[in-house]
Amino acid sequence: MRLILASNNKNKLREFRQLVEGMDIELLSQSEAGLNLDVEETGATFEENAYLKAKAVTDALGCAAVADDSGLEVDALDGEPGVYSARYGPGHDASDRDRYTYLLNKLGDEKNRSARFVCCICCTMPDGTVLGTRGECEGEIMYAPKGENGFGYDPVFKPLAADRGMAELTPDEKNAISHRGMALREFAEELKRYKNGTDK
Ligand code: IMP
Repeated sequence: MRLILASNNKNKLREFRQLVEGMDIELLSQSEAGLNLDVEETGATFEENAYLKAKAVTDALGCAAVADDSGLEVDALDGEPGVYSARYGPGHDASDRDRYTYLLNKLGDEKNRSARFVCCICCTMPDGTVLGTRGECEGEIMYAPKGENGFGYDPVFKPLAADRGMAELTPDEKNAISHRGMALREFAEELKRYKNGTDK
């Protein structure tokens, strides 16, 4: 079975390739599949955005496609930055550091610092089947950044399941508790079930 990842992000491609190892699946990025598509993320939820990205590829190429959408929800900010995590705060060209600094300033000395990372994966099949999984990593926003690993908002997030900040964890430690790790592992199971059903 051929599966197209609705992204050209090399890290995502590596993670998804690891996941489908041994499953008789040929996983290609959009550009490897010869597709140049930039889908606008107009959905109000992570689920909707993941679906929009995967469906656009299935419609264009007629084959199975998978996409993910993720971000950070901060309770005291009514769920911000949410689906806007990648474009939150100052300007289009802002760095990860600019964005988490903006978040820290907006939160100020607010006592309620609970937050979560969310990752939704959606896979659309040419037969109309839609597979979807969601992973969440609960935690809190720290008062100051810590650690050098990871990306995005990792330096200001401390997972409940860890005794250090997300950016202080090794990639394996992060993967074991992260929203993306959880959504990916569940997706692998869903995909196996779908394949077993359709191969019969
Ligand atoms: P997307 O899913 O590629 O659209 O990414 C959404 C944005 O959410 C990223 O640009 C990051 O700002 C944020 N984000 C998603 N996952 C993580 C994570 O594991 N650590 C830190 N930030 C994340």
